[in-house]
Amino acid sequence: MNPSDESELRSSRWFSPDSLRGFGHRSRLKGMGYDDQDFRDRPVVAILNTWSDLNTCHSHFPERVQQVKRGIWQMGGFPVEIPVMSLGEMMMKPTTMLYRNLLAMETEEVLRCHPIDAAVLMGGCDKTVPALLMGAISADLPAIFLPAGPMLKARWKDQTLGSGSDAWKYWDERRAGNLCDEAWGEIENCIARSAGTCMTMGTASTMASIAESMGMTLPGASSVPAVIAEHARLAVATGRRAVELAQEKLRPSAILSPASFDNAIVTSMAIGGSTNAIVHIIAMARRAGFPLTLERFDELSRTTPVLANVRPAGKYLMEDFFDAGGLPALLKQLGDRIDGACATVNRKSIGENIAAAEVIDVDIIRTRENPISPTGGTFVLRGNLAPSGCIIKPTAASPRLLNHTGPAVVFDNYAQLKAKLNDPEAGITADSVLILRNAGPQGGPGFPEWGMLPIPDHLLKQGIRDLVRISDARMSGTSYGTCVLHVAPEASVGGPLALVRNGDLIELSIDQRSLNLLVDEKELAKRQAEWTPPAPRYQRGYGAMFLKHVTQADAGCDFDFLHHGAETPDPDIY
Ligand code: FES
Ligand code: MG
Repeated sequence: MNPSDESELRSSRWFSPDSLRGFGHRSRLKGMGYDDQDFRDRPVVAILNTWSDLNTCHSHFPERVQQVKRGIWQMGGFPVEIPVMSLGEMMMKPTTMLYRNLLAMETEEVLRCHPIDAAVLMGGCDKTVPALLMGAISADLPAIFLPAGPMLKARWKDQTLGSGSDAWKYWDERRAGNLCDEAWGEIENCIARSAGTCMTMGTASTMASIAESMGMTLPGASSVPAVIAEHARLAVATGRRAVELAQEKLRPSAILSPASFDNAIVTSMAIGGSTNAIVHIIAMARRAGFPLTLERFDELSRTTPVLANVRPAGKYLMEDFFDAGGLPALLKQLGDRIDGACATVNRKSIGENIAAAEVIDVDIIRTRENPISPTGGTFVLRGNLAPSGCIIKPTAASPRLLNHTGPAVVFDNYAQLKAKLNDPEAGITADSVLILRNAGPQGGPGFPEWGMLPIPDHLLKQGIRDLVRISDARMSGTSYGTCVLHVAPEASVGGPLALVRNGDLIELSIDQRSLNLLVDEKELAKRQAEWTPPAPRYQRGYGAMFLKHVTQADAGCDFDFLHHGAETPDPDIY
């Protein structure tokens, strides 16, 4: 968006003219109790707030908004709060991923259609982060991201619990008969200890770290726990900086470059971050006009060590990571793996921002000489089962299964999986390769987090906690196990996953970075000819638009018409 006169505030097009429209805009603000001194010739800073009573992770946002406003007033700006779609991961069904692009569209459009000079983007729970950033990148108005921050660590008896990861773990123990109802109830009461996002290195903390590494937050913002005083001060400081961003007209297009996205990828690998990050980074990069592909993740993962010892890949939680120095300390440890020249929202380079960072605890933030793992947290695999690629997080997998060949047990959808998993007829053994298909962007629909397929009860009782699992779904950033995800093209559009039959041998080789179906080509061609596409789940409304326009996992699952391209004009004001 380019206001006609670059020295003028964009909002002055609404508020300055001596016209009937200008009169209308001013008089209605005055009807809200503001006078000229409040808003005339002041940068209008929008606060895009993803709060709702059903977004459990953002329950502190009503208080934080007031703190952001305080910072905006302090610097002579005019704060306006705009509620946008909330995307609370726990409550929304079938999956928030169905709605990421809707929030991205809403973000772009509310920024464009209103008198706004800069924006504070308040998000945190998984999809809110990429959605707000994708929208702000496309609108290209000055914007700064304020992460919700992680919850405090949970304690149960003498255990420290991490959201997601420990819920899955103890649920399996309960199914194995090792945990009574009372203990399970105690865990339910204590595992979410405060406002804030999941306090493992799940998707929320991964995406916040990525936003910081892309230069879109104040330094250190991504790991500050949600409910400590420092988080309130971060909110005020973010508001203050947003006013300067409006005055400087520092747009995302002046901050982001291919090197910023490389920094984002390296960061996501070094924190052992969520597999979901791959889809979101690709989507954000393509919004910015950089045609990022899975190859770049593969290249950078081969040379990036995992340094953050945080669950699910490691031992600690986000509060510990913050106390150990937070993301600036980790970025500094990465040294030349990070391009220090990249720009950030505070007008300093990322290298300048991390220059004084210090690691307080080298067990939590490791050195490059003593990493959690010498190479990246997420690997890209290819083969005849995933011609457009798929991914695995080896740091969260069982070493014994990383190179494994076994017979397939196929589930056509999640309902069938639930119904048949514990059926002895399914014949699942420790060597089986579980397959869930029709769970991708089109198939789920909406690309749900079903990729950590449950282990059958009889195997849990034998002490087995992991199997090779393959799907065209995603999995939660707090999940773990030998789960091959994001198989593309997905089964619902006729990808080879649709052709697998029970008993087919599947070969997973992390060493070769490959995933193959050991069935000869003639037989596969025969099965392909017999395949018919499933009926679309949605015939109307947003769901129908989603199915028509969503791209595959390797292209970021954005809508095809939202990629970077021709500029959308600013609205005319007559
Ligand atoms: Fe909101 Fe995990 S549920 S961040
Ligand atoms: Mg999650």
